[in-house]
Amino acid sequence: MAKNVNFRSIGPTTYLSPVPVVMLGCADPEAGVRPNLITVAWTGVVCSKPPMISVSIRKERYSHGIISKTGEFTLNLTGQAISRATDFCGVKSGRDTDKFAAMGLTPIPAPGLDCAPAVAEAPAFLSCKVQQIIELGSHDLFLAQVVDVNVAEEYFTESGSIDEEAMQLVGYVHGKYRAMSDVLGFFGYSVASDEALRRRGLKG
Ligand SMILES: Cc1cc2nc3c(=O)[nH]c(=O)nc-3n(C[C@H](O)[C@H](O)[C@H](O)COP(=O)(O)O)c2cc1C
Repeated sequence: MAKNVNFRSIGPTTYLSPVPVVMLGCADPEAGVRPNLITVAWTGVVCSKPPMISVSIRKERYSHGIISKTGEFTLNLTGQAISRATDFCGVKSGRDTDKFAAMGLTPIPAPGLDCAPAVAEAPAFLSCKVQQIIELGSHDLFLAQVVDVNVAEEYFTESGSIDEEAMQLVGYVHGKYRAMSDVLGFFGYSVASDEALRRRGLKG
């Protein structure tokens, strides 16, 4: 018998959780627009071949106009060390604040892109080119192709694999930034052999 069959409706809201939280980098040097960062939680993976992601951005955001014009941006993953900066970039506008300078972040060129900056302090970043903009209502959905991904050298192990745990990535859960420290399983662990579980440290 089901453990809990009693639910209460809270209405049709965007309750999906947890979601990622990233700093999106953009700039328009031609128009004299300095590198800017906007924090985005409404982002997701939408296709693997070609690799594509989505971000939803309100029209009134300063960054919206920049990305619409240049057609490119970076998504900078949030490690715990830059979670305060990530919050700051989500409450201040690039219209009147140089967020890179205010948070001591360093803009660096993003491979594959012409002008959108990446954040040197991020553990990894995705270089993205906009393919389509879909007006949905409060937000416009930007569908973009990932043209390159760069991971900070310090996260590569000697064997060349990436130590993602060392990145200490942050998730966003109902208005709070969360560390994700406990490993509960890995892809396919529900059907893995005892030997595989032991090898990955999930069985004594
Ligand atoms: C945790 C967090 C998540 C956010 N996610 C989004 C988002 O997905 N889309 C959006 O349009 N704004 C989002 N915002 C709000 C913008 O980041 C914020 O309005 C920012 O100041 C806009 O910067 P800009 O004016 O320099 O573009 C988020 C803010 C925070 C703090």
